Amino acid sequence: MSRDRDTAADAASPADAVPARGAAATKASAPSEPPPATSIAPPPATSAACAARLIRITGSLAVARPLREAALYELARVGEQGLLGEVIRLDGDVGTIQVYEDTSGLAAGEPVALTGSALTAALGPGLLGSIVDGVGRPLSRLAQESGDFLRAGLTAPTLDPSASWVFSPGVAPGDLVEGGDVLGEVEERSGFTHRILIPPDVGGRIAEISEGEVSADAVVAVLEDGTPLYLGHAWPVRQPRPVSRRLPSDRPFVTGQRVFDFLFPVAEGGTVAVPGGFGTGKTVIEQTLAKYAAADVVVYVGCGERGNEMAEVLNEFPSLIDPRTGLSIMDRTILVVNTSNMPVAAREASVYLGMTYAEYYRDMGYGVALMADSLSRWAEALRELSSRLQEMPGEEGYPTYLGNRMGAFYERAGRVIAAGRPERTGAVTFIGAISPPGGDFSEPVTQAALRVIGGLWALDAGLAHQRQFPAVDWEVSYSLYMDALAPWFVERCGADWPELRAAVLELLQRDRELRDIAGLVGVEALQDTDRVVLDVAALVRETLLGQSAYDPNDAVSPLEKTKALAALSLSLHRTILRLLEEGAAYEELDIAAARHALFSLRNSGSADVEARALNVERLIAALGTKEPEGEGAEVAALEEAATPESPTPESLAPESLAPESPTPEDGEAEV
Ligand SMILES: Nc1ncnc2c1ncn2[C@@H]1O[C@H](COP(=O)(O)OP(=O)(O)OP(=O)(O)O)[C@@H](O)[C@H]1O
Ligand SMILES: [Mg+2]
Repeated sequence: MSRDRDTAADAASPADAVPARGAAATKASAPSEPPPATSIAPPPATSAACAARLIRITGSLAVARPLREAALYELARVGEQGLLGEVIRLDGDVGTIQVYEDTSGLAAGEPVALTGSALTAALGPGLLGSIVDGVGRPLSRLAQESGDFLRAGLTAPTLDPSASWVFSPGVAPGDLVEGGDVLGEVEERSGFTHRILIPPDVGGRIAEISEGEVSADAVVAVLEDGTPLYLGHAWPVRQPRPVSRRLPSDRPFVTGQRVFDFLFPVAEGGTVAVPGGFGTGKTVIEQTLAKYAAADVVVYVGCGERGNEMAEVLNEFPSLIDPRTGLSIMDRTILVVNTSNMPVAAREASVYLGMTYAEYYRDMGYGVALMADSLSRWAEALRELSSRLQEMPGEEGYPTYLGNRMGAFYERAGRVIAAGRPERTGAVTFIGAISPPGGDFSEPVTQAALRVIGGLWALDAGLAHQRQFPAVDWEVSYSLYMDALAPWFVERCGADWPELRAAVLELLQRDRELRDIAGLVGVEALQDTDRVVLDVAALVRETLLGQSAYDPNDAVSPLEKTKALAALSLSLHRTILRLLEEGAAYEELDIAAARHALFSLRNSGSADVEARALNVERLIAALGTKEPEGEGAEVAALEEAATPESPTPESLAPESLAPESPTPEDGEAEV
């Protein structure tokens, strides 16, 4: 169990950024405590045992004394209403509590009670499909109880205690088990196996184990020493879950977005930052990946962004089908919602809660994608708390430990062999949006992320204005995973994949240079070969890199289609250059048909890729010769079905979805 102690120590170290004089490390948190259903304790009546009273309230921080018994990061109930809070500083017997709910109306003299456990995530079957707030309260069930506006201090267990599950044991009485082992399984959603894990710090010999239908909070097994085991367990959100071993990043997290899969792929278990100014498409990227990326489980943290964006998710996800499983997308999704109008302190906690859910499904052996939109709002919450704690501010008022905190958080992503038996491999891939004010990447949050990420998908306001979506700036973006992933792409997609990628990047680079020159001397002054570069690069931008999240046929692009679009654009380029060498005049080459066919390949669903790619190939081969008669009859029907007019970048997004002349100020106003 030394492993567990190690992780506990790790988790405590970044936290020391918050001064903890006189405080013990996080007190026994709840991993082996009662079932997850009760991980957030009900408001205890103020007892003589805890006579702590509020002495000061500043914003979301409440200061109370005497709190000599408290542990750092212990959960507390604040005031008569029992608002949820976390002890974040201890100074002698004075404790500072970060309150997760609206503190207006709270007054000095009101009682404070400690709960004896850290802020924990309730882990167990039933998480998939749920929508919780930043501290794990189930929003839909709370709304049923108290209406759309939640009463302060209200709690309910994350996991519905009235649910029941059919449990199939994986071990038998007499078996020796230890933390991380699979105790058995239940079918959480149709076709989705939820492995019941022994809590990381528990172990022993099984004395009894149940089978068949069990209720969510029932004891399903008992160890010989009397320790009860439940379907779920609680885990402190700020503490990384232990793993057996970390694995290298050698397989991609396939996003279905061409610009990412082809140019800047991220490894499964990797980390990417998606910084971009106001309206550059961060949310659309996060949501599109949540819908279509190849993940078994998606944890989506809406962190401090607009409520209507989460409403969109809630409306849309249940009706979407995951093509890999045939089930609703919501069946593989957990939503952690902390919108801009919800308390700031809970926003700080929400990303840890999301990460803990992600680690839990990783430990079952699944590939999990964790999305956060946006980490800037998380950092702002940190800044606000830090300034209320009157800590020495760092750059732009962010606390000096911003980088450490961010690093410690990003480190929790990764591909791992989970602790326990049987062996399971799982991964948490983390994709975090960042909203730098004014799109200026030199600001502290983007810079802190740049120090720890493996991939950067930088969004550019200029491209977004041209409606080139995803508005990824290919000059600034990068992926450190490319070399490690190359063998995988070669094996799955063909030996020419890395060459194609390099050739496309080179073409785009050359295009940029030529456009600068053309800006000075005019396009007419360029040589034919250079004008070809401009034209083919424009085609590449529109067909290969441009991808509308709203086009049902193209919102997700299989790797074959991605590769076909790249290979055919380059083949067109080569063919034109050859013809020019052979003496053809560029004006006289009629590339319209090949161009049109490339667009219809882009706009087609994955079923038609092969036939349409063949058609483009045929039209490219026919360039410079007389149009082949009759040969194209079988693809004529396909052509008919294709979008009649050649799509323009504007057609990438419906008018109604266009942002109304976004300005950077709007973005900042929201902060
Ligand atoms: N992949 C895409 N396909 C089509 N349209 C897109 C795409 N990405 C973004 N857009 C367009 O850009 C608009 C703004 O995108 P989005 O809301 O994701 O920006 P954002 O960066 O999250 O903005 P904010 O800073 O306000 O959070 C969308 O409403 C949509 O019209
Ligand atoms: Mg957004």
